[in-house]
Amino acid sequence: MSPAALAIKTDGFPTTAAERFGVAERPSLAFTPEVARATEHLYDRVNHHIPAIEWPIHAPYVYAINRLKAERGAVILAHNYQTPEIFHCVADIVGDSLQLAREAAKVDAEIIVQCGVHFMAETSKLLNPEKTVLIPDMRAGCSLSESITGADVRLLKERYPGVPVVTYVNTSADVKAETDICCTSSNVLAVVESLESDTVLCIPDEYLAMNVAKQTKKKIITWKGRCEVHERFSAEELIAYREADPSIQIIAHPECHPDVIAVADFAGSTSGMIDYVKTNLPGRVLLVTECSMASNVEAEVPGVEFVKPCNLCPHMKRITLPKILDCLVDMREEVTVDPVIAARARLAVERMIDLVS
Ligand code: 13P
Ligand code: SF4
Repeated sequence: MSPAALAIKTDGFPTTAAERFGVAERPSLAFTPEVARATEHLYDRVNHHIPAIEWPIHAPYVYAINRLKAERGAVILAHNYQTPEIFHCVADIVGDSLQLAREAAKVDAEIIVQCGVHFMAETSKLLNPEKTVLIPDMRAGCSLSESITGADVRLLKERYPGVPVVTYVNTSADVKAETDICCTSSNVLAVVESLESDTVLCIPDEYLAMNVAKQTKKKIITWKGRCEVHERFSAEELIAYREADPSIQIIAHPECHPDVIAVADFAGSTSGMIDYVKTNLPGRVLLVTECSMASNVEAEVPGVEFVKPCNLCPHMKRITLPKILDCLVDMREEVTVDPVIAARARLAVERMIDLVS
């Protein structure tokens, strides 16, 4: 299988990734003995989640993606919310938003395939303007990112002149370009505290901002953005879990309402939550977040029982093995950012990375 075998001919300067890298031959998706042998060790990582009878469906994709990835010299970055067959079987780098942004900044490969949502792919592109960044489904958005535009931020700055703008990384490059510094859920407090001003605009996640406001003396002004997955959790539901089993550990993502965080034993980014489970090894744990994450981590902590309220992020779930394969075969969809916007947005992301590294 040679990626250049079906190279697209172009008379002019190649502008698309397919023109630059060529389209590959579509691999066979038969579950051959060779595929079974080559993927056996990967099945061991997901056998708690994928029944043996289903592996012959996934394995040919896993095999083809890993071969084509190597031929293309591509790297796959996957967020903690990706499904186990992506997270454990084809990803090269996994992590939370901050870890993926940091790793994206160091990537040597010419091609980055972002298994996550669009703002994550844009962040990779901002930090690697020379690289080709692909996303398996361009429609993988985010309710927080879609809650605000660059024009909205300009209006906020007119309304609150001189107030520094901290923007959650779950935003478009347009919004980041209007921002002083970005943050993620793992560093929002450090970012807010790093600013001299007594008042800070912390946008667009209203709940993240309310949660940080409880930990700082600064006045926090926010926006009405919400994560459609985390806003569905309620304190009442968590209290009911705790009443049913007082020994249960409850750990929540800071995109949840402050009343939910108040009931939790720990709150942190997706990787912070994983580290908490690995360090504390609770007998039973409730992960108050997107439910694929528990499936990804449970194989690594066999003694821990996970209670999984199954809230799925419909955007993260747009990324599938067949779409990752298509992406590597056809070299699409390519994520691009206007260079003028990118230059300004990059500064906001780099300021965050410099502050917390
Ligand atoms: P993390 O930065 O904690 O991975 O969060 C990203 C996200 O989209 C959570 O919903
Ligand atoms: Fe956006 Fe929420 Fe999905 Fe994370 S879980 S990508 S914040 S919609």
